[in-house]
Amino acid sequence: MRKPVIAGNWKLYKTTSEALELVNELIPLVKNASGVEIVVAPVFTVLSTVNTALKGTNINLAAQDCFWDEQGAYTGEVSSTMLLDAGCSHVIIGHSERRQFFGETDETVNKKNKAALRAGLTILFCIGETLHEREENQTFTVLERQITDGITGITKDELKNVIIAYEPVWAIGTGKTATDDQAQEAHKFIRGVVAKLYDSESAENIRILYGGSVKPENVKGLMAQKDIDGALVGGASLKADSFAHIVRFSE
Ligand code: PGA
Repeated sequence: MRKPVIAGNWKLYKTTSEALELVNELIPLVKNASGVEIVVAPVFTVLSTVNTALKGTNINLAAQDCFWDEQGAYTGEVSSTMLLDAGCSHVIIGHSERRQFFGETDETVNKKNKAALRAGLTILFCIGETLHEREENQTFTVLERQITDGITGITKDELKNVIIAYEPVWAIGTGKTATDDQAQEAHKFIRGVVAKLYDSESAENIRILYGGSVKPENVKGLMAQKDIDGALVGGASLKADSFAHIVRFSE
């Protein structure tokens, strides 16, 4: 059985006081939600503070990116071991906004994936096609390349700490969600690629999240799909009540 994951990507929002307000509101709303892995990903500067607020709760802490070397002359970067030190258990890697605006490539994503896994973090490894790629019927080719190149060199054992997030770029922050069928089709394909690269047991066990305009109104339909194991939520994770609704999708 794959345990569902609901992760909130706060992106470049929430100062310290706003982040604390959000988690303090969220904690009681989700404290009885069992059987679901809950994750929040604030900006780097508030990780330690949010970590303290989350102590003893059922909410896990993630960062939104990390660098591949542990330390060195890399101004502006933060390493996996530093994220662990700040209290993170998870990290988002390869988000489409990083690919689009910050020059992230399949190769850098792969280096980050490996470094984070080797440090002991669980990765939320993001993939997804653009609107242009979908219209050109390139969706599956792009997804297969992103997965293959992103997890090359990762062992079957390390794969246990990999969560794949399928986020069609055209559905992120646009209010346009993939239909349940479109999402399921992509997730099934992704699971098939994992089976090809590893084996059917690994494919059966890996969790694949959907991301892109997930809201309380559409989460149930998405979660009812056979190969959808959770959600990576942007906008709707910034308010405690909407995120809690998504976390409690099964009630
Ligand atoms: P959205 O963002 O829910 O606001 O579309 C999802 C994401 O970028 O992870």
